[in-house]
Amino acid sequence: MGSVDVLAAADCEQVLVVRDRATGATAVLAVHDTRLGPAHGGIRRARYPDLGAAVADAVALAQAMTWKAALAELPAGGGKTVLLDHDGLDRAAAYRLVGRAVDQLGGRYFTGPDVGTGDAELRFVAEATRFVAVPGRDGGPGDLAAATASGVFAALTALAERLPAPVRGLRVVVQGLGAVGWRLAGLLHAAGAELLVADVQPERAAAAAAAFGAHVVPPERVLATPCAVLAPCALGGLLTAATAAALPARGICGAANNVFADADAADVLHRRGVLVVPDFVANAGGLVRGALWHLAGERADDDRLRRIGRTAGELLDRSRTEDLPPPALALRLARERVARGALSPGR
Ligand code: NAI
Ligand code: PHE
Repeated sequence: MGSVDVLAAADCEQVLVVRDRATGATAVLAVHDTRLGPAHGGIRRARYPDLGAAVADAVALAQAMTWKAALAELPAGGGKTVLLDHDGLDRAAAYRLVGRAVDQLGGRYFTGPDVGTGDAELRFVAEATRFVAVPGRDGGPGDLAAATASGVFAALTALAERLPAPVRGLRVVVQGLGAVGWRLAGLLHAAGAELLVADVQPERAAAAAAAFGAHVVPPERVLATPCAVLAPCALGGLLTAATAAALPARGICGAANNVFADADAADVLHRRGVLVVPDFVANAGGLVRGALWHLAGERADDDRLRRIGRTAGELLDRSRTEDLPPPALALRLARERVARGALSPGR
C-alpha cells in the first residue's frame, strides 16, 4: 500500500515527516483524529526498513490511540510519533527534532513515552515544546507505565471473573518485562497469580523470576504455553489466524498495542471461546493519566484507572450477548463515540 492509501485507509488527519539536516535524524508524526480533542500518543523509537513502513506504523498506532481515548471517555484524540532508529543515531538531536515538530503543531498533539522512549529522551523533547509529558519531572503527570499496568491489571481481573477464576492462583504468561510488563508482573504477583514470564532479553526474565517467584518461558514458546491468560506486553503483531487457532490460553489481556497481525485472528479466538480484552481498552491507563494531566492538570487516581476494568467487563459481556469478537465490538463503539462527539455542539 502506498503512503497516501495508508492515510486514506486509516482516515488519518495529518502526517508530518521531519528530518534534522545536521544529523539526518528522521521522524514521522501522525495525528489521526482530533474530533474529540487534541491528539495524544507517545514516541516509538524503532528500526524500520524504509520511510513507508515507518509511516504505516505511525498511522496504525495513532489510529489505535483514537479508539483508546474514545473508549476511555477522554476529551482527546489519537496520535503517535515514530523515530527511525539506526546505529549511531544522535538521540539528543533526534528527540529535539521531534520536540520542534510537536511544538509546531501548537497543541493539536501531545506526546510522551512509548517503546524506546523514557524520561531521558523526553527531556530533550521538552527542551523544544511544552506539549510533552515527562513522567518523572517535578510537577509531571507521574509514572504513565504504572498507570498502564494498573489499567491492564483491572481489565485482566474483569476477564478472570468471566472465565470464571480468581486472580489468586491464576496462571498468567507475561510476555515482555519492560516498563509495563514488569509492573504488571508485580501487581499479579501481589495478587497471588501463578506467573510465567518471557523476554528476549534473558536477564529481564531472570530478574522477574527472582523478584516475583515467576517461571521463565523461552520467548519462542509464549504462544504454546498453557495458561489461563496471556498478557502480551512486548510489541504488536503477535497473533495471526493460524497461531490463534492453536493458542492454549483461555484469555488475552495485555499492554502491547496492535497485537493482532491479521484481521481474522480475533474472529478465530472468538469462535474458540477465548476471551480477548482489546489492547486499546486494556492499555488505556497511561493515556488516561497523560491526557488528564495535559488537559485538566489532574493526576488520574486509582479509581479512574479501575474504570478500565469496568469497561473491559462490560465489553466482554456484550460480546457474548451480541456474539461479536470484543475487538470488533470495541471498534464499533469507539467509532460511534468519535462520530457523536464530532456532532456535539461546542467542538
Ligand atoms: P518496553 O520497551 O519498556 O518493554 C518491552 C519489553 O518487551 C522489553 O523488555 C523487550 O525486551 C521485550 N520484548 C520485545 N520483543 C519481545 C518478544 N518477542 N518476546 C518477549 N519479549 C519481548 O515497552 P513498554 O513501555 O513496557 O510497552 C510495552 C507495550 O505496551 C508496547 O507495545 C507499547 O506500545 C504498549 N503500551 C505501553 C504503554 C506505556 O505506558 N508504556 C501504554 C500503552 C501501551
Ligand atoms: N505510549 C502510551 C500509549 O500508547 C502512553 C502515552 C499516552 C504516552 C499518551 C503519551 C501520551 O498509550
